[in-house]
Formats: sequence, C-alpha cells, structure tokens
Amino acid sequence: MEILRWKPQDVLIMTKAAPKRSPLILRTVVIIFSMICGIYIFSICIKQTNRFRDNINPLKIQVVDRRNHRPCRNTRIQEWDIPYVHFPEPQTFSRQECACNPVRFFVIASMQRSGSGWFETLLNSHMNLSSNGEIFGAQDRRSNASVIIKTLDKVYNLDWFTSASKNECSAAVGFKWMLNQGLLKYNEDIVDYFNRRGVSVIFLFRRNLLRRMISLLANIYDKDAKLLNGTHKSHVHSPHEAQVLARYKPTLNITVLVSDLRAAEGTVAKALECFKSTRHIVLHYEDIVANQTKLVDVQEFLKLPLRNLTSLQVRIHSGPLSKQINNWDTVQKTLNGTPYEKYITKD
Ligand SMILES: *[C@@H]1O[C@H](CO)[C@@H](O)[C@H](O)[C@H]1NC(C)=O
Ligand SMILES: *[C@@H]1O[C@H](CO)[C@@H](O)[C@H](O)[C@H]1NC(C)=O
Ligand SMILES: *[C@@H]1O[C@H](CO)[C@@H](O)[C@H](O)[C@H]1NC(C)=O
Ligand SMILES: *[C@@H]1O[C@H](CO)[C@@H](O)[C@H](O)[C@H]1NC(C)=O
Ligand SMILES: *[C@@H]1O[C@H](CO)[C@@H](O)[C@H](O)[C@H]1NC(C)=O
Ligand SMILES: *[C@@H]1O[C@H](CO)[C@@H](O)[C@H](O)[C@H]1NC(C)=O
Repeated sequence: MEILRWKPQDVLIMTKAAPKRSPLILRTVVIIFSMICGIYIFSICIKQTNRFRDNINPLKIQVVDRRNHRPCRNTRIQEWDIPYVHFPEPQTFSRQECACNPVRFFVIASMQRSGSGWFETLLNSHMNLSSNGEIFGAQDRRSNASVIIKTLDKVYNLDWFTSASKNECSAAVGFKWMLNQGLLKYNEDIVDYFNRRGVSVIFLFRRNLLRRMISLLANIYDKDAKLLNGTHKSHVHSPHEAQVLARYKPTLNITVLVSDLRAAEGTVAKALECFKSTRHIVLHYEDIVANQTKLVDVQEFLKLPLRNLTSLQVRIHSGPLSKQINNWDTVQKTLNGTPYEKYITKD
C-alpha cells in the first residue's frame, strides 16, 4: 500500500519545485533521483501484478487510493457492526463505482461431504457474493500459519481470482475451508486473525454423520471406479448422474464404525469450541434442504440484499439408508443402543 501512495505526481512535483536558478548539479541530482524512483516503482509494479499485467493501470490504483479521502464510511453502518465492514483496496483492479460499498469477510467452515459444495453454489448465485472454493485444499498453502495468513490477506483484499470472483461489486467475499485443511490445526492464529479482521464464520455441518460416512466412502470409491464415463465426480448436475453414482453401496467397517462416528462428532464439537469467540452462525445441511428460508438467515448474517439463491447441483444419495449400505443388517445391529442409533431412521 505504501508504494501505491508514492505517485508519479510526487516525483513530478519535486522536479518542478527545483528552482530554475539552482546549479546544474542539483538539477542533475534531482533527475537521477526521479529516474531511480521511477525504476523502483516500475519494478514493484511488475512484481506485484505479473499475473494480471493487462490490468495494471497506475491511474486506476490512484483512483482507489484517493477514494480513501472521500467519506466512504458515512453509510448507514451501526456502531457494533464497524469491525465487520471493510473497504478493500485491491492491488489488481479498481472497485470503481462500488468502491464505497462495504464488503464483509466470511468463511464457510465445513467437513468433506457435508453439502458445502452445493451450499457454496447457492451462495455464489448471489450477484454480490464471491466464495472462492477450497483454497486450502492445496497442501503448500497451509504448511504453516504465516503462509495461511498471507493467503487470507490476499483473498480478503479481493486479489484472489477464481471463477467465482465478482470483483468490484462484491459485498461479501470468502471461501470454503474444511476443518482438516489447517483450520483446526492452526486454530489459535486463525481465530486471532478472524477477530482482528472481522471475519464471520458460517459453520455448515451434517446432522446425520452416518449418511455423511456413506457419501465419503462412495466418493472415495468413485475416485478409482470413475462411474460416470470414466471421470470422477464429487458433485453432479443431473438426476441420471446421481442415480449412477448412488448405485454403489459401500460396506461399512463394523470394527471402526462407532469410533469413526464419535471422532467426527468430536471434530465438530472441537471446531465450535475453538471458534466460539468469532462472529458465527451454525447451519445444518438437512435444515437447508428442508427449509430454504435458512438461506435468508445466511444473507441477513452477511447483510446482503436478499435474493432467491439457486444451484444446479443434484443430491446423490437420498431415500432410506437400508438401500444405500451393503451390510445394512450388521450396521443396524452395531448402532442399536449407541448414541448414533438416531442416524438409522433420520434423513
Ligand atoms: C511457511 O511455509 C512457506 C511455504 O511452504 C515457507 O516458504 C516459509 O518459510 C514457512 N515459514 C515458516 C515461518 O515456517
Ligand atoms: C451488487 O451488485 C450490483 C451490480 O454489480 C451493484 O450495482 C450493487 O451496488 C451491489 N450491491 C452491493 C450491496 O454491493
Ligand atoms: C456417457 O456419455 C454419453 C454421451 O456423452 C451420455 O449419453 C451418457 O449418459 C453418459 N453416461 C453416463 C453414465 O453418464
Ligand atoms: C476395519 O478397520 C480395522 C482398523 O482400521 C482394520 O484393521 C480392518 O482390517 C478393517 N476391516 C475391513 C473388513 O476392512
Ligand atoms: C424455516 O426457517 C426459518 C428461519 O430459520 C424459521 O423461522 C421457520 O420457522 C422455518 N420453517 C419451518 C417450517 O421449519
Ligand atoms: C423469490 O421467489 C419468490 C417465489 O418464487 C418470490 O415471491 C419472491 O419475490 C422472490 N424474491 C426475490 C428477492 O427475488
């Protein structure tokens, strides 16, 4: 940011300020100085924007910068809400006419096969929301807390580009983060960052962890089996594709069934405990499926203008569990009398 305020005009003003009667040496010094500054600014620009070279326009950046001196913050924002309202100054583009629209930061914290892919497509159907997918799926982006924070800064500064980016008129920006992608491991640094920068957390869990387990096993199976014309798909867009994928019925390992369910439950509890000091909302996949009004809650949580949200994704597994598990009888017997008995009958 420092560099951006270091405008070419500054240099120009300096050269002009050099009085005409000053000795030749002084003028030469000033010219050399300006040249060095010019080269320095140029090299920084190249470094920062090598991916988006076409977009660099120092003038645009200055417009964004000048925007700071305009009374952007005088919109109808409540006192308590101030920490959650931001006016990012992206380095890669200008927010143009939306520069004074506040932006909210969020993260969808979830676990694999909990409907978060579907949920994210719903959110992204909102014209003012960008959710950038599973950014921390890549191992090298989460090898330590500092590299995580660097990525977070880039995302929340609107400088992270994916197909979901909506750029200048985004009113909420975030991404999907699985608990096992460093979110729990580095929870202290992350909670600190979320509270410092006013990031809101949307927890999305599945109530029925047994159904989630089936989805996990089926998805792992399909990685090798590639049931859909030889391509592996985690999410589908037609009932036919869903039917094909749902044909596979996993056999659950009875030895570890209860302990696996307990572990998953423990992970959810741990996440809620670790992040309880952040501003958050807890949603369950089953509730959203049953009641789309939950999507209004999310939009209100992010203070977005209300829209009807849509997704083209089709649910893969539905109907009774007895039709989805190969060793259904043994599974039922194993879960009887445990706290997980409830999963047998519930959707
Ligand atoms: C964090 O990880 C990045 C990339 O993996 C590495 O370059 C950096 O040195 C690491 N920093 C610390 C403090 O370990
Ligand atoms: C949402 O996006 C539209 C179109 O890009 C823009 O006109 C509007 O100001 C945005 N709304 C908010 C709240 O940012
Ligand atoms: C495979 O591809 C063909 C042609 O694109 C399509 O008609 C068929 O339904 C696909 N099969 C599956 C299992 O998706
Ligand atoms: C079930 O899991 C246990 C522990 O991981 C493993 O030792 C055993 O081989 C598994 N059984 C089957 C049938 O895969
Ligand atoms: C649907 O969700 C909304 C908002 O959470 C709630 O007020 C409403 O009672 C729910 N409706 C039903 C039928 O559960
Ligand atoms: C959403 O859809 C419902 C019914 O389809 C409609 O009554 C309502 O006006 C729509 N709301 C918005 C904000 O488009």
